[in-house]
Amino acid sequence: MKFESMTNRLGSQTDLSWLLACLLFVTLIGASAKVALATKPTKPAEPVATPRVAAPAKPIAPAVPAKTVEGGVPYKAFADAVHAVMMADRTVYAKQVVTRLKKQDAPVTPSEYWEDEEHTIPLPAQMFRMGASLVDENPKAGFKYGLKSSWPLNEQNKPGSDVEKAALKHMEETGENFYGEETLGGKKYFVAAYPDRAVAEACWVCHNEHSNRQDHYPEFKKDDVMGGVIVRVPMD
Ligand code: HEC
Repeated sequence: MKFESMTNRLGSQTDLSWLLACLLFVTLIGASAKVALATKPTKPAEPVATPRVAAPAKPIAPAVPAKTVEGGVPYKAFADAVHAVMMADRTVYAKQVVTRLKKQDAPVTPSEYWEDEEHTIPLPAQMFRMGASLVDENPKAGFKYGLKSSWPLNEQNKPGSDVEKAALKHMEETGENFYGEETLGGKKYFVAAYPDRAVAEACWVCHNEHSNRQDHYPEFKKDDVMGGVIVRVPMD
């Protein structure tokens, strides 16, 4: 019979070992598949968070590899970023300190001659220039900046190079930022310039009536480009 012949075949020594080999093979495949499933992560590992508690005894690798920290920020992005901070600080000083004092009729007033007069504080432009001088003296800063104008009330704020002159002219004519390069003393620099506009009446009133104004001084009015912040970054 067919059944008999089958049992006979299965019962034979050779067929049994073949069957056992097959079973073993299937079991092994199943087991390794299970191991693979168990070890394969279902989602990418979360980045290790920076610990907030005291540093453990064993030093751990920084969350951000040094390579990324060292990686170059493009010159334009760097200049734009530092300019954003400068302008934010200047605006806060002008609005929250100078204007606030005036509104309160405080016994302290902003004055250009704050160094000689009692109960006075520096003007925003003076505060800005003093900050720029400190950065200038700091060898670690790695860049320089200044608030310049083609019509400076303070001679120190006149353009210091041909590229600065061109940058101011560009901003006065177009109202747009200026980006360029220049070589000074054999060193190459990235130069970025940002227009400084007459945003408040105090700007043009004070400048237009100032005793330092030269003969060719323009009559500034609302939104005029009065000068600009120039940022210079060494490229080597
Ligand atoms: C109370 C007077 C006063 C007001 C208000 C004032 N400035 Fe000035 N500004 C000055 C003086 C003085 C300087 C020179 C500061 C220095 O010693 O560097 C100056 C400098 C500048 C400079 C650099 C070129 C220069 O003239 O020496 C720019 C640009 C400028 N101011 C723009 C502005 C803008 C824009 C505003 C309004 C947001 C403004 N100023 C408000 C008095 C004023």
